[in-house]
Amino acid sequence: MINHSLLAPISVAKENQNLPNKTSGLIHNLFPTAVGTYKVNRELTEKELKFIKEQETRPNMGNITSVDNYILKNKILSKIRTFIQDSIKDYFETIYKPNNDVSLQITQSWLNYTEPGQHHHKHAHPNSFISGVFYPQANKETDKIFFFREQYQALSIKPREWNIWNSESWWLEVGTGDLMIFPSRLSHMVETVNSYRDWETDRKSTRLNSSHLKLSRMPSSA
Ligand SMILES: [Fe+2]
Repeated sequence: MINHSLLAPISVAKENQNLPNKTSGLIHNLFPTAVGTYKVNRELTEKELKFIKEQETRPNMGNITSVDNYILKNKILSKIRTFIQDSIKDYFETIYKPNNDVSLQITQSWLNYTEPGQHHHKHAHPNSFISGVFYPQANKETDKIFFFREQYQALSIKPREWNIWNSESWWLEVGTGDLMIFPSRLSHMVETVNSYRDWETDRKSTRLNSSHLKLSRMPSSA
């Protein structure tokens, strides 16, 4: 059962307290961006983690990525794939409420590995509708995903404090078993990793630091 409160908008309207006395106003949030957080709610098995950690890799911009760009097609990850598919279905139904019989298909999926001193460069996913990032292992206290609003601004106004309207970027904490689902047009990145996490101490290889599965390019089947 997926908790829909995770997908609830921050607010639909905010009272404006800056107006002179005896007047009132509301600020409405039109056309917000839906970023869903889902949780797998189980420990990944040793087999799953071993498979993820021991993939053949190649250099990426800022970090390391798996050679396999269809990682979720591997049978050993079938339960993770099912969880991701169920979550995507929930996101799609909740946000888009399609009137026709359409569904989304996972196309590409890969692994990213980030060592201390490395980062995951800012990017979006072209030729894609919805994207997701799944974290087999992460530390909620230190790991974050950053999102960016990249719209033309006629004037650049320096805010005295940041809010959901004037921010150009926003980060969300991520932990083990989290899956983030968001529109593929939304630029995202992982900042430079400063140190190894506790969970790394039991690994054979020190290469994997903050790893995540990504899926993208899930066009409508209609
Ligand atoms: Fe990405």
